[in-house]
Amino acid sequence: MNATINSEKNHFPVLLDELISIISPLYGGTFIDCTFGQGGYSKEILKYSKNKVIALDRDIDVLKDANLLKNKYENRFQFKNLKFSNINKIDLKNHKLKGIIFDLGYSLKQIQDKKKGISFKSSARLNMKMGLNNFSAYEVINKMSEDELSKIFKYFGDESKNKLISRYIIEKRKLKDLNTQDLVNIINRVKNYKNKKTHNATKAFQALRIFVNQEISELIYGLIEGFKILPIGGIIAVVTFHSLEDKIVKFFFKNYSEIQKSSRYFPDIKDGKILFKLDKKKPIVPSRLEIRTNPPSRSAKLRYAIKIDNSFDFKEFNKKFNFFLELENLGKKL
Ligand SMILES: C[S@@+](CC[C@H](N)C(=O)[O-])C[C@H]1O[C@@H](n2cnc3c(N)ncnc32)[C@H](O)[C@@H]1O
Repeated sequence: MNATINSEKNHFPVLLDELISIISPLYGGTFIDCTFGQGGYSKEILKYSKNKVIALDRDIDVLKDANLLKNKYENRFQFKNLKFSNINKIDLKNHKLKGIIFDLGYSLKQIQDKKKGISFKSSARLNMKMGLNNFSAYEVINKMSEDELSKIFKYFGDESKNKLISRYIIEKRKLKDLNTQDLVNIINRVKNYKNKKTHNATKAFQALRIFVNQEISELIYGLIEGFKILPIGGIIAVVTFHSLEDKIVKFFFKNYSEIQKSSRYFPDIKDGKILFKLDKKKPIVPSRLEIRTNPPSRSAKLRYAIKIDNSFDFKEFNKKFNFFLELENLGKKL
């Protein structure tokens, strides 16, 4: 979870000032806001009168907010209900693309929406779909094997009790179809920790959300396809909220922005090109003030890179994270 959150009603786009100061030198062109949400980034970018925004979101429930912006900036804003892995479907004729922005994760609205069943506080049927999904958490929990479940909890949630939780799920689902609270009860029984800062179910729920929304494949293909449509000089900026996402973005930018030496003793230049210029190696993180006003922003990391070459061969990137892509592929049989 992340995100653009603080109290019940308020919406605070994370690292907004930092993001705007990174992209503003490129002012006067089109920006693709891959994760429109409540439009925090889009609104700010549109305040510059020469900018256009093409906003994407897989969740059609954002349409109301998107229509408000459409009314205000008729010729400079458009919205598409599209997953960002399909960014190549956007028609960029008559656009001068300057940047592609991702603010990963979930909005407060989505977390609070009971029918989405994203939070472990929900008493609704297991769901977790953000939009444009092929299956829900209900099918994952009630259909997948013990071994598959335990891998999902382990690798997407870093849940050390993955085996035991999966075993209990298999036992319990013989008696009834499991819903959100059944799952929370199973996890509480296994973990049985009290007075912890984070809820027992946090890790397992994160894992399920990633799997249901195929978030790793989305991110990897979103970055690759985004790179392909971006002209030289354009920027890719990504805000992540958990370590696996950040690892992927960091590898993508770093691996294609510096010459790697295969060995300290026999340096040679790896084949492949330098595709990005990185201004900063370290991520930008929220200030203390932002964290105080909006506590969920504390895990946010913003990384960005400028494209400097059109050629690409992302085999190494795919190979590095292939394990996770294959794990998500297990969802295809549901
Ligand atoms: C953290 S919110 C974005 C908040 C936004 N920056 C703002 O200021 O309002 C993330 C949004 O991205 C959307 N999203 C997540 N993964 C997506 C994907 N693969 N394709 C398109 N939209 C996605 C979610 O539905 C959610 O609305």
